[in-house]
Amino acid sequence: MSTERTLVLVKPDGVKRQLTGSILARVEAKGYRLAELKQVTATREILEAHYAEHAGKPFYEPLVDFMLSGPVVAAIFEGERVIEGFRSLAGTTDPTTAAPGTIRGDFGRDWGEKVQQNLVHGSDSVDSAEREIGIWFS
Ligand code: RTP
Ligand code: MG
Repeated sequence: MSTERTLVLVKPDGVKRQLTGSILARVEAKGYRLAELKQVTATREILEAHYAEHAGKPFYEPLVDFMLSGPVVAAIFEGERVIEGFRSLAGTTDPTTAAPGTIRGDFGRDWGEKVQQNLVHGSDSVDSAEREIGIWFS
């Protein structure tokens, strides 16, 4: 088993609601190592690269607008199987039905917006992690 890296984003809803510390604390408490951390205001260019796989989908434009609505916190976490481990901590995409005990399940809900405001992003594979880290930490 090799050590992995993953890109974690606290999305604008998490930053606005002052949940950054609570969210990062859960990831650290699980035992993953915080390797890099910064607060950034995304640009359309960054988001078009980051969300390239979703271009053209109905939620794409609302998603980009949401991600431009305030600063995000970008982090790199390291550890054995951290990619799937973080996604398990985050919970499923829809925060209303995400399991209690997960970040989305405990802190998220449907606010009646056009797009899921679900607090965090986590890379979903080794390849996407390396690609996304290059976008946010180049
Ligand atoms: P993420 O990439 O942010 O970690 O989330 P994910 O894998 O669980 O979800 P994904 O399918 O990659 O979608 C990326 C983000 O787009 C928004 N979304 N909204 N039907 C909708 O309203 C919808 N579907 C997706 C969410 O913010 C989701 O996290
Ligand atoms: Mg995804």
